[in-house]
Amino acid sequence: MAEPLRLGVAGVGVVGSSLVQLLQRQRGGLAARAGRECILTAYSARHRRDRGLDLDGARFFENAAAMAASAEIDVFVELIGGADGVAYEAVKKALARGLPVVTANKAMLAAHGLRLAAPSETHGAPLFFEAAVGGGIPVIKTLRESLAGNAIKRVSGILNGTCNYILSRMETDNLPFDVCLTEAKRLGYAEADPTFDIGGFDTAHKLAILASLAFGFKIDAAAVSVEGIESITLADLAAADELGFRIKLLGVAERTPHGVEQRVHPTMVAKSAPLAQTMGVLNAVSIDGDAVGELTLVGRGAGGDATASAVAADVIDIARGTRLPAFGRPAASLVDADRVPMQRHEGGYYVRLAVVDRPGAMGAIAARMGERMISLEAIMQKRASKEAAAAGVVPVVLMTHGTTEASIRDALAHAVEDGVVREKPQVIRIEREAA
Ligand SMILES: NC(=O)c1ccc[n+]([C@@H]2O[C@H](COP(=O)([O-])OP(=O)(O)OC[C@H]3O[C@@H](n4cnc5c(N)ncnc54)[C@H](OP(=O)(O)O)[C@@H]3O)[C@@H](O)[C@H]2O)c1
Repeated sequence: MAEPLRLGVAGVGVVGSSLVQLLQRQRGGLAARAGRECILTAYSARHRRDRGLDLDGARFFENAAAMAASAEIDVFVELIGGADGVAYEAVKKALARGLPVVTANKAMLAAHGLRLAAPSETHGAPLFFEAAVGGGIPVIKTLRESLAGNAIKRVSGILNGTCNYILSRMETDNLPFDVCLTEAKRLGYAEADPTFDIGGFDTAHKLAILASLAFGFKIDAAAVSVEGIESITLADLAAADELGFRIKLLGVAERTPHGVEQRVHPTMVAKSAPLAQTMGVLNAVSIDGDAVGELTLVGRGAGGDATASAVAADVIDIARGTRLPAFGRPAASLVDADRVPMQRHEGGYYVRLAVVDRPGAMGAIAARMGERMISLEAIMQKRASKEAAAAGVVPVVLMTHGTTEASIRDALAHAVEDGVVREKPQVIRIEREAA
């Protein structure tokens, strides 16, 4: 058998400690698949303390960058996190000396992916990141390798378990957003400051990585239009249910006549679609390729063991001598991401309105829609709550046929100006073709 592959693991938190355990538990299996043993020879963390892990024989480095420079390791595994700081410095150092890198760090890739892909190629040091998107779901390899023969039309996914947990719990148990968010924090599914997750930014980072692999873009998180789930109410979930949909926070990268759209927003997904059936903390990604058609991967998008599973797969690839450009094609051939304004998006829309309770109000709204050639697929007038009745409004839900974002926003702005609609209209895009 070949010489063992010596791993230096930076970060032994949730993912790192699961990886250390996996390496020990699966020692024989990994060696058989990789053709050589994969052993932990060094690790780094902020504090040297008992972690209930068997770290005997592995050298501790206080400084992760010093470990990246050490002659005692053959692979640098980065599991610290953070776009900048020590993780980025250490990874740069490892690649510059030709050391393969495995990372789970989507924030760093979203911010610096291209800056890291170039030295990875120049120095012949693979940069693998299966764990960075979808946790244990093998979506990176699927896009980069298994579907390399396809022109990708669309990648759409539930990429944030916190949001999916909150929306699922709201829907299943009829509990308001705030209650579900508090519960998600208590269960450890949401951070103390959940803005990054519920605001859609974490999903945007992951989508930008997937779009790079799918469409050959330089990663550009700023090209992603982002809306979070904060405005979703139980009234929206109930109306979606009645109309045959579920509301999911989706990241969608899709080729359109105007370029590749990259967008993250709450989305109406038909209940029959695999994405709609993905509940709780699970993640799912649907990919539409011209040759393969549509396929969906579903699984655990976070958690120590699931994420360590993806890290271990990358380690085995390196042990086998696999050498691939980080984003599936030479870094120099990656092109700028398209910037398609959301106003140009075309699709169906769900709209919930507080309509003033007086004759002619609905007619005025319909007229504003008609002026912009927006045709309605469904109209549902809901029973007014006591508060709504007291305020003199009636809740109305509309579903449009295909139109543009510019048209629907314009029509609604005019309806508000006309005084027939109170409050900000709720607008949710419908993803008709999602698998
Ligand atoms: N958790 C998940 O489910 C999950 C899923 C997919 C991807 N990821 C990604 O995996 C990475 C790690 O996440 P995690 O949840 O495992 O984080 P974590 O539990 O917070 O662990 C971070 C580890 O990094 C160490 N660390 C922090 N600053 C350091 C420094 N300056 N030098 C050396 N070590 C340092 C910490 O040391 P101490 O232990 O001494 O504090 C800790 O061991 C992140 O990029 C994250 O986005 C996580």
